[in-house]
Amino acid sequence: MRAINLGRIGVFVFLLVGASVAGAFHPDIYEPRVPPELLEELQDMDNPYPASPERIEAGRKIYFGKGLCVTCHSKNGKGVRLPGHSPRDFTELKWQELRTDGEMMWILRNGSPGTGMPVRVGKVISEEEGWNVIHFIRTFSQGN
Ligand code: HEC
Repeated sequence: MRAINLGRIGVFVFLLVGASVAGAFHPDIYEPRVPPELLEELQDMDNPYPASPERIEAGRKIYFGKGLCVTCHSKNGKGVRLPGHSPRDFTELKWQELRTDGEMMWILRNGSPGTGMPVRVGKVISEEEGWNVIHFIRTFSQGN
């Protein structure tokens, strides 16, 4: 009886340590970064604006300008190395395929808890500017 209990505790501690290490470093860049209970809803959320050249250009201005995105995500979208948790590589095709506009919007509105990603929408840019910058982020997958 005692041995079984110790065994269970061991497994529990193992899971706990494993989860906290994964949580601290997010080694998997494909792992969703939004609260799990909102994932489905956010994946269904579409960008309300078309990816027109004007909107992509407006998004580019935000990225290099008042959004300050370039300071962490770098000119080419690959991101700069940051202590603790570096940004995703926006040029990574699989990441582009998996990550939806709705998930990105949640991150822009809330930041990415536990990382250096700050709140942007509602603080330094508007909702519409947020959707435009998401259109711009999509262009990194085309080698721009
Ligand atoms: C101070 C540094 C910093 C700034 C400024 C910043 N970011 Fe980030 N961003 C990060 C980091 C670090 C991550 C990685 C967090 C994570 O894994 O979710 C991140 C994550 C993201 C993600 C989510 C990636 C994913 O996998 O879902 C998006 C989208 C994003 N940033 C867009 C932007 C945009 C757009 C701007 C400008 C309006 C911006 N960021 C400004 C540091 C920054």
